Amino acid sequence: MPAGEHSIVVVANRLPVDITTGPDGSVDWTRSPGGLVTALAPVMRQHEGAWVGWAGSADLSLDPFDADGIRVWPVALSEQEIADYYEGFSNGTLWPLYHDVIVPPEYHRKWWNAYVAVNRRFAAAAAEAVAEGGTVWVHDYQLQLVPSVLRMLRPDVRIGFFNHIPFPPVEIFGQLPWRRQVVEGLLGADLIGFQRSSDASNFMRAVRRLTPLTTKGRTVTVGARWSRPERQVRAGAFPISIDTASFDELAQSEPVQQRAVEIRKELGSPDVLLLGVDRLDYTKGIRHRLKAFGELLADGRVTPPETTLVQIASPSRERVDQYRQLRDEIEVTVGRINGDYGVLGKPAVHYMHHSYPAEEMAALYLAADVMLVTSLRDGMNLVAKEYIAARRDLGGVLVLSEFTGAADELGQALLINPHDVDGTKTAIMRAIGMEPRERRRRMRALRRRVVEHDVQRWAEDFLSALSTGRSEA
Ligand code: G6P
Repeated sequence: MPAGEHSIVVVANRLPVDITTGPDGSVDWTRSPGGLVTALAPVMRQHEGAWVGWAGSADLSLDPFDADGIRVWPVALSEQEIADYYEGFSNGTLWPLYHDVIVPPEYHRKWWNAYVAVNRRFAAAAAEAVAEGGTVWVHDYQLQLVPSVLRMLRPDVRIGFFNHIPFPPVEIFGQLPWRRQVVEGLLGADLIGFQRSSDASNFMRAVRRLTPLTTKGRTVTVGARWSRPERQVRAGAFPISIDTASFDELAQSEPVQQRAVEIRKELGSPDVLLLGVDRLDYTKGIRHRLKAFGELLADGRVTPPETTLVQIASPSRERVDQYRQLRDEIEVTVGRINGDYGVLGKPAVHYMHHSYPAEEMAALYLAADVMLVTSLRDGMNLVAKEYIAARRDLGGVLVLSEFTGAADELGQALLINPHDVDGTKTAIMRAIGMEPRERRRRMRALRRRVVEHDVQRWAEDFLSALSTGRSEA
């Protein structure tokens, strides 16, 4: 296959830009929010990189174009492929399987076939874009077959893969009817990055169990069947982060500081403001959090409106059944809590099913005394890191599930097991009553970690390990 022009190519399910269509039908592209784009944009600009991804709606067949200094390379998906590859195999099979089967994954051959076809399309686009001897960085569970397809098309390129979500123990992963194909798909890469060390270990166990390949530590030797000569594939932990400096700066800005004060006023100036911010996803433990809060209200250990919970649940994957069901359950629970404990004009839980711009998020973080992250399983959880980045005042307490990748790094948070309702209640009460001195001490340590390990460093660590042959950050 002839080489393209880009020395670095990123491949991710979503493009770094969102399409907006004006009332007159005119199309505009704006940079998507999110850390991955922020981290990679400078690297991409510097090396005239290309980004291969899906534009987010059906049948958008567009030629590559430039936006924000990046060559944007759209991959078209049909309605049926969105249903089978994205909503189906990615989010109805892999997502629940990789998150500890919190809801049962579904296995459908039709979904798998669409996943194979779409992964091939992404790989073909990357193969067309990348220059001779260039680098391709593939992202996340939607695209696990891209590395091996790409290697067949373009054996000259260096391929990295980063898995943003957990990699499950082989006892769970082994349920997947296409487990061997997925492992072989990933092994097309030179370096496979995971959030946590335990994810990398889980992957290595899957390689040992499901393939006859030779492994040593976190290196797999792939034989002449797939590539000549033999090559080494490395797995390692590269915990992702956020753009700490710009989040910190945003939170310090005058409008955001003022907005934080205003938010507390609008909420009736509670003594204690608890905050939850999540995509509306069953992995986030929103129901567990509401149960703990509801019981604290029932026990009379907290009383509204002095203590108030704000829960932001941003809409996500709304056509997938399990997400619809979850939304209903959460909304019934919030309604019940407010019916039982709210007072006129002052609900106990302020529930919002919207997304907000970064400014409003930063203001909410600043306004909140206690941040609740209660995921049942989470690759990293960047909300926890954003909260810390916003708190230059060293105020605020983070209650953090031990089942997040972030918990591996953020030991100074109050760590909880969200399945343990009493333990969660105790941690919330401890956070509410924590002395300012202890609060500051903990937040200072948390900030040190998030300031030193930001998303730019993550990207540099991964890319330099990819080019030099190391396997850890
Ligand atoms: C998680 C995944 C990402 C995904 C994001 C939003 O963070 O790791 O790959 O893009 O959720 O989900 P969506 O399905 O809307 O892309």
